[in-house]
Amino acid sequence: MKQKIFNFFRFLKNTNNALLCKTLWEVEYRCGRWDYIDQSMDMNTHSVLTDFVCGDVLDVGCGTGNFVSNFDSTQYTTYTGIDLSHYAVARAKKLFDSKNIQFVQGDALSYSYGSQYDVIFAIEIAYYFYPDKHITFIDQYIDLLKENGKLILRIWNKTKFSALLDDLVNYPGSKNTEIIPLSEEAILVVLNK
Ligand SMILES: C[S@@+](CC[C@H](N)C(=O)[O-])C[C@H]1O[C@@H](n2cnc3c(N)ncnc32)[C@H](O)[C@@H]1O
Repeated sequence: MKQKIFNFFRFLKNTNNALLCKTLWEVEYRCGRWDYIDQSMDMNTHSVLTDFVCGDVLDVGCGTGNFVSNFDSTQYTTYTGIDLSHYAVARAKKLFDSKNIQFVQGDALSYSYGSQYDVIFAIEIAYYFYPDKHITFIDQYIDLLKENGKLILRIWNKTKFSALLDDLVNYPGSKNTEIIPLSEEAILVVLNK
């Protein structure tokens, strides 16, 4: 029953109505739907991702911030995590309290950033903007990169999201696009500015 409700939520999220999406994410976090992501990132993904960590890092759709837990703090100058969910951001702030780490609540599609970044991670978020807003999302975050910066997207199921993957592979704003397999289905897409 719970699963059916969450599937319905997923369907509603595809309407891309900002207020509705925010409410649904908030309800899901409060119901424990995403508790598992605190520990879920496999070590293979972590080790591949940490190789890209440098300078000023932005983590879009950071959830509860589990990704920063395995970073070596000497590898980056600043880490900023942004997420739509107040609940997730409050939890992240409680878990990771450090001078060069900050978490902000905001909508990735409309938030005004005051800086540019060396590397931007978008881990399991881009498909929530498919099919209408994913290119706007990519354009916006490529713009936020410093010269030669990287936008790194993780997609857990390349078959299910093959249409999105095609658009990423053919994205014209990337000098060179790399696909890094993480498992049979999970991949990283690296867009280079
Ligand atoms: C599947 S979770 C992934 C969380 C985290 N990146 C990870 O891999 O553990 C997707 C996250 O994206 C966030 N999200 C969805 N739409 C968003 C938006 N428009 N702006 C910011 N965050 C958003 C959700 O609140 C959720 O925390």
